[in-house]
Amino acid sequence: MHPMLNIAVRAARNAGQIIAKNFGDNVSVQTAEKAKNDLVTNVDREAEQTIVRTLLKAYPDHCVIGEEFGIQGKEDSDYQWIIDPLDGTTNFVKGIPHIAVSIALRIKGRTEVGVVYDPIRDELFTSSRGNGAQLNGYRIRVGQSRDLDGCILATSFPHRHRHHLDAYKKMFNGIFDACADIRRAGTASLDLVYVAAGRVDGYWELGLKPWDLAAGELIAREAGAITTDFAGGHNFYSSGNIVCGNPRVVKSLLEKIREDLPESLAR
Ligand code: IPD
Ligand code: CA
Ligand code: CA
Repeated sequence: MHPMLNIAVRAARNAGQIIAKNFGDNVSVQTAEKAKNDLVTNVDREAEQTIVRTLLKAYPDHCVIGEEFGIQGKEDSDYQWIIDPLDGTTNFVKGIPHIAVSIALRIKGRTEVGVVYDPIRDELFTSSRGNGAQLNGYRIRVGQSRDLDGCILATSFPHRHRHHLDAYKKMFNGIFDACADIRRAGTASLDLVYVAAGRVDGYWELGLKPWDLAAGELIAREAGAITTDFAGGHNFYSSGNIVCGNPRVVKSLLEKIREDLPESLAR
């Protein structure tokens, strides 16, 4: 195993232990609203501190960018860890057992290592660039659908980007018409690795942050998926708009998404 993947797995499991221990415990979990419809708990913070500690203990010269505490370590390092200590905080707060820890390592801007860990199901999704994608050590592959017919897709509603709701509804209608069904499970990193595992055939969402997608995108890619932004380009890191699936499914999704796409989302 890539030595840095090894450390990432250790960090994810450490954080996962904290999350699982507190899951469903209304007394120990304290929730606050960072912004409208954007929750954070003491467990998000504790999990992030644990991850940062584990990573920087092994690699003191690296940089860590976390959702809750921002940049830590050596800011100008070529080695940049991008972490979401608890993806699916709303699920966590509501006691819905669908949550994950997401950790990616980017070296000079290229993602080399990705871990998405579901501590409730003890499912560990891993990848290092060029070495395929694994679930609990077993190789996973993206689904083989040729178009949207019969597909089960994943998405998320633009709950923090309500100004895009009309545009989103239009793409939803077009896609829903063409596929078998759609899931909205509430944890972007798991949506991506479920594409990797062929549990869903494709996924699209708008307005993600780098820590939501960095690890899952590599894992999906290494499982045979491609990822684009809504224009079919590669700017999903900066735009946060993402389409993922096997190349034929992405092509079909993009056809629907682009049918009536406002300029503001064509990136
Ligand atoms: C959120 C989840 C959710 C997605 C949101 C994310 P958080 O992350 O991944 O599925 O729809 O866009 O922000 O806030 O729970 O870490
Ligand atoms: Ca997240
Ligand atoms: Ca989070």
